[in-house]
Amino acid sequence: MRHLISPLDFSVDELDELLKLANDIEKNPKNYAHACDGLKLATCFYEPSTRTRLSFEAAMLNLGGSILGFSSADSSSAAKGESVSDTIRVISSYADICAIRHPKEGAALVASSKSGIPVINAGDGGHQHPTQTLTDLLTIYSLKNRLGNMTIGLCGDLKFGRTVHSLIHALIRYPGIKFVLISPEELRVPDYIREDVLKKNNIPFTELERLEDALPDLDILYMTRVQKERFFNEEDYVRMKDFYILTKEKLNLAKEDMLILHPLPRVNEISVEVDDDPRAVYFKQAQYGVYVRMALILTLLKWR
Ligand code: CP
Repeated sequence: MRHLISPLDFSVDELDELLKLANDIEKNPKNYAHACDGLKLATCFYEPSTRTRLSFEAAMLNLGGSILGFSSADSSSAAKGESVSDTIRVISSYADICAIRHPKEGAALVASSKSGIPVINAGDGGHQHPTQTLTDLLTIYSLKNRLGNMTIGLCGDLKFGRTVHSLIHALIRYPGIKFVLISPEELRVPDYIREDVLKKNNIPFTELERLEDALPDLDILYMTRVQKERFFNEEDYVRMKDFYILTKEKLNLAKEDMLILHPLPRVNEISVEVDDDPRAVYFKQAQYGVYVRMALILTLLKWR
């Protein structure tokens, strides 16, 4: 049995297979409409979500399966003090596969160690969000026809943004990747990403504060929101929250074929006027999230 806890749990070859399967699902959805007949997905979400939970549920329903679960800690027995380990042991007898989101780093890993069914990390604190990474990779692969040989700008809250941490881990395995890390001083990537992931693997990267300085060189601009829920005080969040706002005017500095991605939800960091620009693909990205989660469910159930 395999789980997906970190984006590195799949080899590059396995990822390629998964992305190809997701592409085929997009083109031929009817071929997969009964692939999970009689099977159940549990979504155990201890933190708020729109895209991840609902795209997982849409994915399982598209495959002919059924769904069950909870969407907040308050509506589960976590509110009475039940541990993640006990919860997953119980869920293992109710469902065939489980997606879990939890505010504590490592919670999905703990769940997988006690689970009788495949566990998918749907976000653990500020740590990792591997299915967002699969979504991001599918978006880039589908729209650029490659995953290597490009300059990726990551902009915003690079300290707490778990989607950024997961994406860096995943992309360094492809050749010719350069990163431009764009953030205010206080929200720079954690040291372990800079030292143990980027420097250790000789990945070229620069760190900048001004988005305008980075824009002309980028093939991909990955915007992120400032993660309000991870700040210790409101004052710091308010000071940081509008540090970056991507406008139509700033986009004049970017390449014609640059793609703008964002894991969403958006707050203020991309002006709504940018939504009509053909380079803005963040809503399409959310759609790719369904295909890639369908491919993931099929793959993990096949390996069970
Ligand atoms: N991108 C993402 O994880 O969105 P949700 O928090 O809405 O699931």
